Amino acid sequence: MWRMVITMFWAFCLGQVQALAAEISDAAIVPLERPKELSVEKIRLGRRLFHDTRLSHDNSISCAHCHDLAHGGADHTPHSYGVGGAEGVINAPTVYNAGLNLAQFWDGRAATLEEQIDGPIHNPVEMASNWPEVLAKLRADASYVESFARVFGGKITEARVKEAIAEFERSLVTVDSPFDRYLRGDATAISEVQKRGYRLFISYGCVSCHQGANVGGNLFQVMGVFGDYFRDRGGETKADLGRYNVTGLARDRHKFKVPSLRLVVLTAPYFHDGSAETLDQAIRVMAKYQLGRDIPDEDIADIIAFLHSLVGKMDDADAHE
Ligand code: HEC
Ligand code: HEC
Repeated sequence: MWRMVITMFWAFCLGQVQALAAEISDAAIVPLERPKELSVEKIRLGRRLFHDTRLSHDNSISCAHCHDLAHGGADHTPHSYGVGGAEGVINAPTVYNAGLNLAQFWDGRAATLEEQIDGPIHNPVEMASNWPEVLAKLRADASYVESFARVFGGKITEARVKEAIAEFERSLVTVDSPFDRYLRGDATAISEVQKRGYRLFISYGCVSCHQGANVGGNLFQVMGVFGDYFRDRGGETKADLGRYNVTGLARDRHKFKVPSLRLVVLTAPYFHDGSAETLDQAIRVMAKYQLGRDIPDEDIADIIAFLHSLVGKMDDADAHE
């Protein structure tokens, strides 16, 4: 008898806790806000620099080469290819909404968008260049000299190139997705299947890592909480050490910035190693290694439907001109 009462009491408590958790999680994803107080002039200059191949050593590769703005801001290959076809070691994340992330790169080694730009400029498997080379090329172009004078009131410098590109990136916020309209009170903005997928995203606990306005990007987490992902996959590389490469701390081994899921339906393949070709595969890996469970096919399909509702407005150069 007592056992039954205690069991019922526990069941009651657990129910309360779950209800509470659901309530808390409900506020875990918030709508994206249109960025304020950006300079339209800097954005325009930054967009031009972002698409300029002269930022690379042999004038063959722009930022947009690997961050294709018309296709989700990524490059759709497991590892990127830079100058001379050199293959990189890690998957290119999208540049959309990147300014909202707590730090840049999978391992967070750059604190700001400005600082991030040093990476691709120097990386031998990306643009394989350096600032003196880039600045000399830009200074030889009268139209850039004129633009920098107008926008910054001075000459072309490394800091100003970075500021313009970063300002452009800060403008790349994908506002007004169907899901954000739903969060703001339009109950018909997403389908019933998408609503179910959202509930599952919360109840399975995806939201404990993928959260905030960017549905990710605000935490570092271990890849392989419930199993050794790297042993199972095999062929561990230095890039697989993740945040450990930045801090040298044992607890940061295999830790990565939790990626934003805002445009995830557009940016296959997935994970830092580009190993999952489809969202279906990626979510199965997440279920196994991050949640320690199997998720039935129909639930995976509903979660994917929900992820489709997260896609908002993408850069449209014409709209800014
Ligand atoms: C050859 C392909 C390539 C080129 C060219 C390239 N990138 Fe990247 N980009 C990548 C890869 C790969 C990563 C991930 C690297 C890592 O995390 O170690 C990345 C990461 C980023 C990130 C971090 C996003 C995040 O959420 O962590 C930003 C921002 C970015 N790139 C902007 C740029 C800009 C600006 C340029 C031009 C100056 C540029 N990229 C040029 C491939 C490229
Ligand atoms: C414990 C934290 C955690 C949980 C829980 C979690 N994720 Fe992740 N998720 C991550 C991390 C970390 C990565 C990056 C892993 C990597 O690249 O190696 C990731 C990557 C992903 C990616 C690939 C994104 C990309 O751009 O490559 C998808 C899709 C994803 N998660 C969806 C989900 C879904 C759906 C759930 C729930 C079923 C979930 N995640 C649960 C931490 C988590």
